[in-house]
Amino acid sequence: MQLMRSWLFVPGNRPRMIQKAPTLGADVIVYDLEDALPSAEKATGRRLVAEALEAPPGGSLRYVRVEADPGRGLEDARAVVRPGLEGLVLPKVSEVSHLQQIDAALGTLEAGTGMEPGSVRILAMIESARGLLAAPAIAAACPRMVGLFFGAEDFTLDLGVFASDDEGPDEMVYARSAVAVAAASRGLVAVDRIVPEFRTLEPLAADCKRARRLGFGGKGVIHPRQIACVHQAFAPSEKQVEKARQVIRDFEEAHREGAGTIQVDGKMVDRPIVEKARRLIRMAEAAKSDQPD
Ligand code: COA
Ligand code: MG
Repeated sequence: MQLMRSWLFVPGNRPRMIQKAPTLGADVIVYDLEDALPSAEKATGRRLVAEALEAPPGGSLRYVRVEADPGRGLEDARAVVRPGLEGLVLPKVSEVSHLQQIDAALGTLEAGTGMEPGSVRILAMIESARGLLAAPAIAAACPRMVGLFFGAEDFTLDLGVFASDDEGPDEMVYARSAVAVAAASRGLVAVDRIVPEFRTLEPLAADCKRARRLGFGGKGVIHPRQIACVHQAFAPSEKQVEKARQVIRDFEEAHREGAGTIQVDGKMVDRPIVEKARRLIRMAEAAKSDQPD
């Protein structure tokens, strides 16, 4: 099971951060050629990111966020599609046709660089009302799709909602939930918004908890300090693992004796609950094997 809990954004024009990124333990590094990059820095950014992709594989997966504009986005892709690249993050996706064009263009670029056809994956950012309404179709756009990302800042901008410090836990719950459901409908990972606050980790920890309950499998992060917090939030706790093991044990025993449902600690347990327990164990094992010795 490939863990994709933390997606660390790294501005594509900052050599120090690019150099540091592979040492930080993020599941995924996203070299950014979009929002984080002033346009005068574009050529430098493309070159630095292409160089970073030349490092030997292993450790974090490497993605690049390209520009939303189809022409400039394609130029970005041309500069970075090469062995070492796991996938592209496409911002502001609102139409399936855009993804189909990128899919075809990637096919040509892969052929030109000797990469396996279809090997460059796509994470689509849903960050507008139109994008949200098209999310189920976007998730199904092509076999390259790996996940959907909920981009909150641009989404609230599109809706005319201003950020406030007294945001409640239910803010944007419909949109976030819709993205998580659309991703799950195709077996993709749902990645939740970034939390810009990085000096204190409480807001991030609380937001991770809500995201996980909505069905997200990971979160965008912008600072090294946020990575461990996200990993902890998206890995099952010891207590959950223990409980899941008990559920599986008791159910399998009852099953052998011909029962389809049982009770564990006064709660009914049937097939989907056992499946969830098995999934939780797989997640816990993947998280464990990921930890440095
Ligand atoms: N990737 C890799 N390294 C990073 C990093 C990142 N996203 N953010 C910070 N670091 C490094 C810094 O280089 C610094 O390392 P050093 O002291 O060894 O040089 C260390 O982590 C601590 O950084 P700190 O001083 O606390 O933060 P900062 O003031 O340098 O940077 C931000 C703060 C927010 C500007 C920076 O984290 C950032 O640019 N994040 C990404 C933003 C982004 O990509 N936004 C668009 C997508 S949402
Ligand atoms: Mg954005």
